Parts: sequence; structure tokens; C-alpha cells
Amino acid sequence: MFLTAFLLLVALGAQGAHGEEKEEAQRRGHVSVVIVGGTGDLAKKYLWQGFFHLYVNQVSSGNTFSFYGGGLSPADKGAALLSEILKAVSCSKDVSQERCALVKEQFLRLSLYRQLKTLEDYQNLDKEIKQQLNEEGMTEAGRLFYLSVPAFAYADIAEKINNSCRPASEAWLRVVLEKPFGHDYKSAQVLASQLGSSLKDEEMYRIDHYLGKQVVSKILPFRIENRKSLDPIWNKQHIERVEIVLKETLDVKGRIPFYDEYGVIRDVLQNHLTEVMTLLTMKLPVNVSSAEEVLRNKLHIFRSLQPLGNNQAVIGQYQAYRAEVQQELNKTKDHVSRTPTFAAVLAHIDEAQYEGVPLLLISGKMLDQRVGYARILFKNDIFCLQNTHSVHCKPKQIVFYFGHGSLQYPAILVSKNLFKPTLMDSEWKEVTEHTDVSVLGLPISDYYVQTPKEQREAYTELISHIFAGRKNSFISTENLLASWGLWTPLLTSLASSHPRIYPGGADNGDMLDVRLRGNDISFISEAVIISPDQMGSANDFQVMQGKFRGTVMVSAWAEELVEKLAEDMQEAAEAAVRDAGVFHLALSGGSTPLALFQRLALHHFTFPWRDTHVWMVDERCVPMTEPESNFHGLYNYLLQHVRVPYYNIHPMPVQLNQRLCVEEDGGALLYEKELGKLVNGSSFHFVVLGVGYDGHTASLFPGGKVDEHGESLVILTESPVKPHQRMTLTLNAINRAQKVALLVMGKGKHELITQLSRVKDNTDKYPVTGVNPDNGKLVWYIDYDALLG
Ligand code: BG6
Repeated sequence: MFLTAFLLLVALGAQGAHGEEKEEAQRRGHVSVVIVGGTGDLAKKYLWQGFFHLYVNQVSSGNTFSFYGGGLSPADKGAALLSEILKAVSCSKDVSQERCALVKEQFLRLSLYRQLKTLEDYQNLDKEIKQQLNEEGMTEAGRLFYLSVPAFAYADIAEKINNSCRPASEAWLRVVLEKPFGHDYKSAQVLASQLGSSLKDEEMYRIDHYLGKQVVSKILPFRIENRKSLDPIWNKQHIERVEIVLKETLDVKGRIPFYDEYGVIRDVLQNHLTEVMTLLTMKLPVNVSSAEEVLRNKLHIFRSLQPLGNNQAVIGQYQAYRAEVQQELNKTKDHVSRTPTFAAVLAHIDEAQYEGVPLLLISGKMLDQRVGYARILFKNDIFCLQNTHSVHCKPKQIVFYFGHGSLQYPAILVSKNLFKPTLMDSEWKEVTEHTDVSVLGLPISDYYVQTPKEQREAYTELISHIFAGRKNSFISTENLLASWGLWTPLLTSLASSHPRIYPGGADNGDMLDVRLRGNDISFISEAVIISPDQMGSANDFQVMQGKFRGTVMVSAWAEELVEKLAEDMQEAAEAAVRDAGVFHLALSGGSTPLALFQRLALHHFTFPWRDTHVWMVDERCVPMTEPESNFHGLYNYLLQHVRVPYYNIHPMPVQLNQRLCVEEDGGALLYEKELGKLVNGSSFHFVVLGVGYDGHTASLFPGGKVDEHGESLVILTESPVKPHQRMTLTLNAINRAQKVALLVMGKGKHELITQLSRVKDNTDKYPVTGVNPDNGKLVWYIDYDALLG
């Protein structure tokens, strides 16, 4: 049967065979292809088409084929399913109709369904292959098993193949596997070692279908071909940023049992986007077809990547996801999944060539647009005074456009102010007729554009590579583990983070926009500010304020909360300076405000520090040089970094006459007088307070009769914890302020927040309840950890 088909097709000529596929120097003979899971979704969508394409191109090359679709269904049911699937395969444009019809008919005849469940089924398959080889008198070239089944079945099937389906020793065995290859470093290692006991490394082909995308597979050749132009600019001096982006519009309905275990980082970033990143940054191989060299150079990049910490990632989850999980996993209404459906990760390579170059990896479901690309944005050192439309003034970038989006086709684009790239090969063409379309900020006419003459599916591409034994487009065990080595610590640390909820589609607005600052990445937009009872309601992605103890509450995740408070402070400062020429700010001590100080120091360069007076809410009676001193923290985290005039800084005089907080030395009174002299009506513009676990604020402790300080503004108090002696503003001083911010952060404060939300004012038990500005405004800033526990 094989022989007849072979001769017929030779007679028709090998039109359309792709150049690339001619190269394999493997022995000719008979090839058995077995798709395990041959009637499943992937097989139906891509694999049979890919193998048909291979058949069309190979049938006149001296090889013969048989194809088996394996499944769990019994023979009659499976055969009917398979025959339906096979009807849909089609030829590429360059194959004549006549040839296509003939090859397709032959392909259908060569493709058989077999039940593959038990070891015996595999043994029978082996017998059948051998018998056919004998009957036709063919030499065996190899066997290709494509495991299109869930990953938990891999080890078992690999064992069955090893035990019963190995070809004769001169022929090759190739077993193709699809992700997921584990869900973290450990599980990937376990799976690798299980597979390793049945298969040799060179027999395993781990697929990442991104490596089969036409544009992705040309990244290395592009870098090599254009080496002369790229070499001088492919480094930190010239590259501003690298972005690798996969935006999707679909949700994950129907895939939740898988997806909820994995999330976007494991699903897309750990594999597809990471692979693209390594191709863009790895050292160029001397021989691009040497799998060993390509994989070695990739591995080197993995080893040079800086570890990913919590500050290198932001995550989100589309709003409807929660309900989808509840439904598909049969969970109750209060079940909350933290699985991210969006992630933006900032990576850096610890190598002189790329030091400090941000590598941004982003992907998400339910975004506004479906598009995938990698962009290398270069610095532009040209300043155009008038001719701003000149090509020199425009962004300089190279875009590897995987497809979809505004362009709708895969392409490599180089902005014209960079260089004219060489055409990839004869299967690519230059695009010169430009439609009115923009790609990443530039009209397409500002780019040199090239695209494949014919678009081909990634799977089709990879199947031809597997057949040719080209291993450089697959994932080696070593590289897989290196990738998990990079991602696992981040996944672990994100496991307890709450993703930002986004509505999906165009409504996301700027909610998922990110800012890169040094090594950190953060969302740029206002934090999601909501009250607890609005959590999970229809509007929970909107910026809102809640109520706490009858007054305004701003709530967000810690980082965003601090950002928000810092912004509010700057706004108040600017208003005060505008109106009064001066801003009087009183700051608390302890650890909670340190993040705020840091934020002010590092991000608020336009804060009117020159006109700001910095006062203290309270101080511990220790020398200022001690780390316990509030002033010490204030100095370290804020004052030494900003330009506040020396004479505008007002530490509390806890040390006078070489002793600490002695009543007779009158330190408290001194401070009060200074306050009275400089601050109009002793009314601060802004006071930042914290709350202790026991409900204390400033250094006003429970049981300290905080209501009985009369007209005093500054007093000495006793703390239940060391250092016991304190100097502090009184409630009287605090309540004269125009604005008071009460900052509460951390899970440890949750219990207290719950209590405070219920109790009436009781200054003796909870001194903080006495904070009630006479004419000013009080705002609680409570982070989600404190709010929700
Ligand atoms: C798959 C992921 O690997 O890649 C999917 O499991 C994702 O969640 C898909 O949608 C994206 O691939 P492509 O080829 O459509 O960009």
C-alpha cells in the first residue's frame, strides 16, 4: 500500500516541498506517526493538519508513512471521530488541486484509529507496525509518538512506549510532549525524572508552540543576518526596554479546572514569553542549527537572570473569574480564588551587556485586544526642535509581531530610523504597500516590514522540525528546570497576594498600566479603593472611598495605600504653601510610616520641602543617635534625602541638660512654645498618626487619662512598653490640625480594626478614638491586610 502511494506521488513531482525540510540527513524508510489523544481538541485543531502538511512535503522524499490516531474510545467510535477530523485537513496554496486531492486521499487511507489504553494495546500496535513493515519489505526509519493527553498520563504512556513500542535499534524514537511540564521546580523535576526512566533526553521533544511561530523562529536568524547593524546597538547603552507581550480578549471559561491551578504566569509567562526573552537576549550561536549550542546559550541567560522578587511583578484577575471558578469547581459563593489572569513582570539580566535594561513580560486574559509581540525599544538621543515629524525624532524600535492586533499578520518591523534589515529568506517578502495602520505608536510606513509569504501554524512548523530531528526549537530538561528555577520563587511569594480585580475589555482603562522604576514594577493608577462591604460587588474595580467610624476611609493594598497618602500629603502641602507660604507637617514614629517616608523621599521630587516645617507627633526618650529614636528613623528614611532647610526641622527636645525627659527641664513646654510661635493657632496643616495594637496613637496610651491634659499641647507620658518614657502631642494639639491621616497597615492590625469599627469613642480604652479634629478633617488610610485580615 505504501509503495503504491509513493510511486504515484513521485510521478506527480515534489512540488511544494519546503526547502527547510529537505535538509534532514536521516535514513530514509518508513515512519510511523502515533498521535496519542488523536481525537482530542489539539489534534483536531492543529496536529492532523500539521502531519498532513508534513506528509504532503515528504511523500516524494523517499520516506513512507503510516499514521495512527490513538484514543481511549473503542475502535468503532474512535474511527468515526477520526474520520470526521481528517476530512478537514487542507493543502497549502502552492499545491495544485489535483495533487492535493490525490495526497489527501492517500493520507486518509494511511491514517487509522487504534484504541490505546492498556499495555496490550501498545503491544498490539507494535506488532501491527512490524507486520506491515515486513509485508511491504520496508526498512524502518523511525516512530513518532505525539502525546496529546493530560500531563498526568505522560509517565505511564512513556513507560508503555518504552516497554513495548521501541523501534528497531537503527531507527529513531521521538516522543513529543505538550506543556504543562510540572507546576513548579519540584514537580517539573519529578516529571523529568519519571520520563527519564523511560526515554532518553534526545528522544523527548517538549513543545512550546511559540517556538514554532513563524516570527519567533526567525528571531535568532534575524539577529544573525543583521548582525552588522545590531551589534553596536544591542546593549544597555542603546536599548531602553524590551517588552514581550501577549494580550488576549478571551476568558478561560471551560478551562477553569486546569487554569485555576496554573494561572497566567505558569500558563504563558514561564514558557512562551520566557522562551522569546531568551531568544532576544542570548548570545548568538556560531551555528544556529546546532541544538546543543542554542540550548547552551539559552541556559546561560537563565543563569544570568536576576531573581524575581515580589516587587518585580503585579498581578490581576478579571472580575468574572471568581464566579466562573465557583461554578466550574462547584464552590460556594464565598470562595475566592487568587489565581492571576493577568501578570506583568519585570526582569533584569545580570550581565554587562544588559545591565539595567528592563525586560517586561506581560500577559492577560480579557484584555482589550488580541495581540502578541516582542518590541525592542531603543533610546533616541536626537532632539528635534521644529521638525518633530522627521523620522529621526520618532521612536526607534524593532518589533517581532507574532500576529493578530492592528496588523493582523505576523511580521518583523524595523523602524526606518534604525537600519534596513535583510530579507529573512525566499519564503518571506517585504511589505511595501502600506495601509493606514499604526503599530506600537508608529505608522506602518515608518517601518521596514517583512512577513512570511504564506502563514503557517506553529504546530505545522514544529511537526516538520520534529520530523527533521531539529531539537533547537524544543525545550531541554535542563532549560525547563532553569526556567522553573527562575519562576518558582516568584510564584511562591505571589501565592498569598491578592490580584487586582479588573473588569475586562476596554473598561480596564488604565487599571493595568504599569510603571517601571529601577527594579520595581507597580500599577500606575489609583489603587482600588473600596470599603469591605463593597468587596466583590459589581463596582469593585472602581476607585472608591469607604467609611470607617463614620468618617472617610481610603483603602488599598499597602503599596498603593502609601502612594495615595503621599499624594494627598503633597496636595495638602502645595495648597498650604500657596495659601500661607508654609506647610506645617507633624509626623509619627514607629515602623508603619517608614514606607511613607521612603515614598516621599524617592518619588516626590516636587514636594515643596523648602517651605515645609517638619514636626514630630511623639518621641521616645532616648538619644537621637539611637535606632529607637523616632527622629532617627525620620532622618534616615526621609530628611537626609530631601531638601528641608535645617531650621525647618523640629525634633522633640527629649534630651536637655544631658538627661532624658526630666519634667523640670521643661522640654515639653519648650516644644509647645516653639509650636505656638511658628504655627498659626498651633494648628498643623497635616498630622500623620498611626495606631498601636492596644489602640494607642501618638504616645497616648490606654489608661493614660488622655482626656485630662487640659490645654497642654505637648506632654511627657509613660508607655507600657520600652522605652517607657515618651514625649507626645496631646489630643488637644492633634485635634487642632487641619488634616489628620491615620495610617494602619498589616494583618496584625486586623483584630484591632475590627474592634475599632464597632466601639464608640472611648479615649481611655482606645486613645485613638479621641482623634476628632475640631475644624479639620480626619481620613483613615487602612490597607487591605488590616481591613480584611
Ligand atoms: C497556550 C495557553 O499555551 O497559549 C493559552 O495555554 C493561551 O492560555 C495560548 O491562550 C496563546 O497562544 P496563541 O498561539 O493563541 O498566542
